[in-house]
Amino acid sequence: MHTLSVSLTLLSLLVGRAISTPAPTPAASAASAAVSVKLNGVTFINKGLVGFGLIPSDFLESTGDTIGGIGSAIAIKRGTWTNHTDGTFTGTLVVHPDRGFNVDGTIDYQARRHELTFTLAPYTSSANLDFASAQQTFKISYSSTLLEVERNNVKTSGLDPAAIRPAQSGFPTVPTADPQMPIASSSEPHLTLDIEGIVLNADGSYWLSDEYGPYIYHFSAAGALIQTLQPPAAILPQVSGKLDFTSDDDPDTGRAANQGFEGLTIDPLTNTLYAMLQSATIQDGGDDKDTSRFTRLFAYDVSNPSVSVPLVGEWVVPLPQSSGGNTEACSEIHFLGSGTFLALSRDGDGRGGDDNKSSYKQADLFSITGATDIHGTKFDDPSNPIASKGKLTKGITAATYVSFVDFTDKTQLARFGLHNGSPDDETLIDAKWESLALAPVGDSAFPDDYFLITASDNDFLSTHGVSLGVPFDAGIDVDNQFLVFRVTLPVVPRGSVQTALGI
Ligand SMILES: *[C@@H]1O[C@H](CO)[C@@H](O)[C@H](O)[C@H]1NC(C)=O
Ligand SMILES: *[C@@H]1O[C@H](CO)[C@@H](O)[C@H](O)[C@H]1NC(C)=O
Repeated sequence: MHTLSVSLTLLSLLVGRAISTPAPTPAASAASAAVSVKLNGVTFINKGLVGFGLIPSDFLESTGDTIGGIGSAIAIKRGTWTNHTDGTFTGTLVVHPDRGFNVDGTIDYQARRHELTFTLAPYTSSANLDFASAQQTFKISYSSTLLEVERNNVKTSGLDPAAIRPAQSGFPTVPTADPQMPIASSSEPHLTLDIEGIVLNADGSYWLSDEYGPYIYHFSAAGALIQTLQPPAAILPQVSGKLDFTSDDDPDTGRAANQGFEGLTIDPLTNTLYAMLQSATIQDGGDDKDTSRFTRLFAYDVSNPSVSVPLVGEWVVPLPQSSGGNTEACSEIHFLGSGTFLALSRDGDGRGGDDNKSSYKQADLFSITGATDIHGTKFDDPSNPIASKGKLTKGITAATYVSFVDFTDKTQLARFGLHNGSPDDETLIDAKWESLALAPVGDSAFPDDYFLITASDNDFLSTHGVSLGVPFDAGIDVDNQFLVFRVTLPVVPRGSVQTALGI
């Protein structure tokens, strides 16, 4: 299926000796096994899980609503990542939920970002911690919330986009909430957002990607909309040749319902912003899980956003498939270097999901080196699929995709009091992991080692929830879980993560 080269090696995490070196003493040992994979001749190593933390499912943020969905998008705030002499690390995460508690239908949820502070005390022993002690390895505290507004200081919404606002004042046609729905305090139908990706800029402004458009939005440091990017026609949801952004049904062509721009990341050295669809467009086989594996990655030049943001690249990425042939859709990407990315692909099983036992949740690797750049070609027209019924069109070379960090590894989860599969309790790994962030370990013996931080989207599931000020009981408590891995990523240009983090 996908090109894969995995070797299980008993490497010491801390000492990192060659494969034939005898096992290190238990005290120096971290995870029991490191996993190495090769892509384009480069060896990447997963040294195991080193941190776990959570925010309880019923935690209320400053507006009085349940905090939730925060793993949809995360980023480390510039200038906050700090290493301390006791071996711990502190920093601030900017997190962005999607569209609010929507189990009983979408709601008029104003988009918002939260700031969380954290302390990482990497745990590298192979001994199993209990669930309470495990939470001391990545301690998270809530600090603040910023509510976001669109043009004219109008609140955004999370309601299903049953209406559109035509292009005006330099903004493209956008999805808006149905004007028939009761919307507080504005006569204008609100821009409606379902945010899934975030990239923070040096000037304090930030990019958000969403599922409804699927669009990319540029916000000011104060949380006000500056700019809206519309992807090529092939990606826009159209019904009978007309834009229709609803997420209730699939369109005739364009992004499938709830399969928008889940992935957003930047190459900080070239100012290239990348966005990736969660799975294939309808014309590319996106109407069925058996045929939806060929998704598309887009590159925008954001060097000078106030002048223009041109589309400069587009590639096809082949997502992994389950043994039954279902696509493991991709919830996040993260740029590394040399045309290589991390991709968080997964099923929907786990705590808060369809089944207790997850069979795929991984931060994998893909490379676009050697893949066909199709931007500005006939494939930007929805009548020319890149993979009709899921079969890749001749002449297109897709990216190379390899398996890498397995979130459901039994041994690793057990070290933090966690598990995969029954029973369905608070120590079951969450279903929906949707975010990735990188920070340097700062170990001079391993200059290519990074912490990979990921968080889950708990869908606001709480038995003691509050949504738009109204209490709710979702029938289950799903905490906002966080995992931290230590990984070796030799393709990351030395110093680039530090530069991006402003440290
Ligand atoms: C999940 O585990 C619980 C026990 O904790 C069990 O009652 C339930 O049937 C399991 N669900 C599935 C879908 O297997
Ligand atoms: C933090 O990391 C830097 C560079 O990796 C190192 O020079 C410094 O000594 C570290 N500081 C502490 C307090 O450990």
